[in-house]
Amino acid sequence: MSGSGKGPRVQAMFARIVSRYDLMNRLMTGGMDRGWRRLAARLCEPQGKLALDLATGTGDLAVELVRQGARQVVGVDFCPPMLGAASEKTGLLGSRIRLLAGDAMALPFADESFDCAANGFLLRNVADLPRALRELARVLKPDGRLVCLEITHPPSRLFRALFQPYFYGLVPWLGSLISGDGAAYKYLPDSLSRFPDAPRLAQSMREAGFSEVNYRYLSFGAMAVHVGVKGLEK
Ligand SMILES: C[S@@+](CC[C@H](N)C(=O)[O-])C[C@H]1O[C@@H](n2cnc3c(N)ncnc32)[C@H](O)[C@@H]1O
Repeated sequence: MSGSGKGPRVQAMFARIVSRYDLMNRLMTGGMDRGWRRLAARLCEPQGKLALDLATGTGDLAVELVRQGARQVVGVDFCPPMLGAASEKTGLLGSRIRLLAGDAMALPFADESFDCAANGFLLRNVADLPRALRELARVLKPDGRLVCLEITHPPSRLFRALFQPYFYGLVPWLGSLISGDGAAYKYLPDSLSRFPDAPRLAQSMREAGFSEVNYRYLSFGAMAVHVGVKGLEK
């Protein structure tokens, strides 16, 4: 999936798998996804801040940002059924989480609206990665932190040899079994093959106006979490 029609196709795909999305995350990652989001939220340094969770999906990262002290989190997603699932989960947190429909390609916010921003498993899915990063830079206040959690290309050849049969073989099979949507869980590894590796993603963040960009690999390099700070000058 690539090119100009990617947005609507991704939107339709997430609408189809929403009911099994959380379960598949837990199964595919052996529950590790929770720890990755906890770390991403911590690196966002959200205490007392207004935070954006872009592509909030079923809301797990938004909840984590609140748990770690965000004053308020705005969770944005372009897939209404995902937002529906998020609202069931985040209902108890009341006004600390606001959910809003919006597209990462053109965020419905004024410049410099947020103190910090995070996204989990968004960037592989966008039609135009530089544009999504520029939008994130635009809506952040100067010095605002951006944290991006995403699947990546494991740097170790040995781990890649173990990871690839799992990710390109077992995950689509399991996804098809659990969600009944083989295409969606074939898309998952396909979307990684077209996605930049961690050093190149860091470079794209710099080009979008972020400084102090750094990243760390998680789970033997199957995941990466990137952090950047919006520079004073773009
Ligand atoms: C893999 S899910 C991640 C959800 C959540 N962040 C998490 O950690 O589980 C990707 C989400 O990105 C959303 N998404 C993809 N492209 C988007 C875009 N251009 N604008 C807004 N949301 C988008 C999808 O609707 C989906 O909910």
